[in-house]
Amino acid sequence: MEIRKATSADVEQMQQLIQQFADIGLMLPRTIKSLCEHLQNFTVAVDDNQKVIGVAGLHILWTDLAEVRSLAVAPEAHGRGIGRQIVQTLLKEAEQLGIAQVLSLTYQTRFFEKLDFHVVRKETLPHKVWKDCIYCKKFYHCDEVAMVHYTRHFRMSDRAKEA
Ligand SMILES: CC(C)(COP(=O)(O)OP(=O)(O)OC[C@H]1O[C@@H](n2cnc3c(N)ncnc32)[C@H](O)[C@@H]1OP(=O)(O)O)[C@@H](O)C(=O)NCCC(=O)NCCS
Repeated sequence: MEIRKATSADVEQMQQLIQQFADIGLMLPRTIKSLCEHLQNFTVAVDDNQKVIGVAGLHILWTDLAEVRSLAVAPEAHGRGIGRQIVQTLLKEAEQLGIAQVLSLTYQTRFFEKLDFHVVRKETLPHKVWKDCIYCKKFYHCDEVAMVHYTRHFRMSDRAKEA
């Protein structure tokens, strides 16, 4: 297994992996076009045959805020630490980019807690976070939980301001 940046050869498999979970309402679907447009954001886990078994993207929302999007691990590869390694890679990327907070909108709260994400009230998040929500069928009854990971660029004084 290898964790690496996504390439154009991965796009079709990334789309199929995400679609599996979108079909059962766990995440938003992604089109091939949207994956291509944001390909540089994406990290994948591949097996020894270069089959994509995990995917996620780091989407930069603002100078101090990025979001983990489209996180999916193939069902047969669950519980092997692949999801954790992908998110850790994205957190490292956020650190390198100087980003202070990394957001996830998710149902998988236990998984993200283990990666030091904390539940925050959705009302505290800036409006730009919700830009893509208009495309979601759950727009009027969103039950996802907002969770934030604070990187070393986050200053305690900022956290106090937000509280
Ligand atoms: C959530 C998901 C990405 C986790 O991937 P994974 O590779 O199976 O997770 P890992 O093996 O890296 O797990 C890391 C830790 O989280 C825990 N964990 C993983 N999924 C969990 C869950 N659903 N509930 C509670 N704990 C969970 C693991 O037990 C492990 O704990 P440990 O460190 O004590 O051993 C995967 O289940 C998935 O693709 N789910 C469907 C799509 C989805 O919901 N994506 C999230 C959209 S935000």
